[in-house]
Amino acid sequence: MMSEKEYATPFPILQAANLLSHKSRIRKFRQAIERTISPSEYVIDLGTGSGILAIIAARQGARVTAIDANAESLKYARAAAERNGVVENIEFIHTHFSDFKPEEKADVVLCEMLSSVMLIEQQIPASRYAVKHILKPNGKILPQQVNLFVIPVQNEILWNRFNIEDLQFPRIPQTADMKQSIDLADLLELEKFDLTKDSDQPLSIDKHLNFEIVQSGTVHGILGMFESKLLDDITLTMEDGWRELFMPLPESVDVKTGTKLDVRISFRPGEYDSLIIEIE
Ligand SMILES: C[S@@+](CC[C@H](N)C(=O)[O-])C[C@H]1O[C@@H](n2cnc3c(N)ncnc32)[C@H](O)[C@@H]1O
Repeated sequence: MMSEKEYATPFPILQAANLLSHKSRIRKFRQAIERTISPSEYVIDLGTGSGILAIIAARQGARVTAIDANAESLKYARAAAERNGVVENIEFIHTHFSDFKPEEKADVVLCEMLSSVMLIEQQIPASRYAVKHILKPNGKILPQQVNLFVIPVQNEILWNRFNIEDLQFPRIPQTADMKQSIDLADLLELEKFDLTKDSDQPLSIDKHLNFEIVQSGTVHGILGMFESKLLDDITLTMEDGWRELFMPLPESVDVKTGTKLDVRISFRPGEYDSLIIEIE
């Protein structure tokens, strides 16, 4: 089995900077940070990327440590902190979160490694590690909760991506463009994670879901998405900048309105190659 380290998905710097375009996401984080952090508190930002959340926290008067597994992003984040007059208040550390053992525990941990079903990014393992090893016992972590949802879909474009003339490639999860898929059933909740709690339970999802087909068609895969409680009434949704994840079935299945589709979905969050989808 691979170690967590090999599952790090450090974004290239261009992608980290691209996240600056998600204005509603940043506005919600800013609101949550302003409500949570008091001046002189100690904040740790896990996966700082462009440095945006660390900079907002430092502007709020906090002392901040910002870590990232990507050295290029850290250089960019430092340059951004200089421009915004807070470089003296932020320490930047190049490390994987699971190698990070701070000398002082944090009043607040910021950890934004969200992705559509938490299959690709490290949100769940990183938040759990933070609560155990990085956060003070009565400290706060943002975001606080994620709810994952799935739906069987027809998506010929992504299904056919893997066949190129006489060549065939293994089908693997792909981000889907908005409205590219046809929903063939109603959305069901796959799992819910409370990110504020310490737990020794192994992190894995293994669910059997029973969908009622509402439109005849061909199921090519399961589309995954999330909603996340950032703080109290501040909720992050897919509209704040994320794209859905298309998880292909081993074989496509023709379905008729009114029939049932039993699906088993199993994976360990953050371990993209642990995914198993079975039609039962
Ligand atoms: C979704 S981006 C968020 C960046 C920034 N916090 C923001 O809100 O725009 C996640 C960041 O986490 C970093 N990251 C991913 N896996 C990591 C790991 N295992 N340890 C530390 N950083 C990691 C990536 O390099 C990336 O910069």
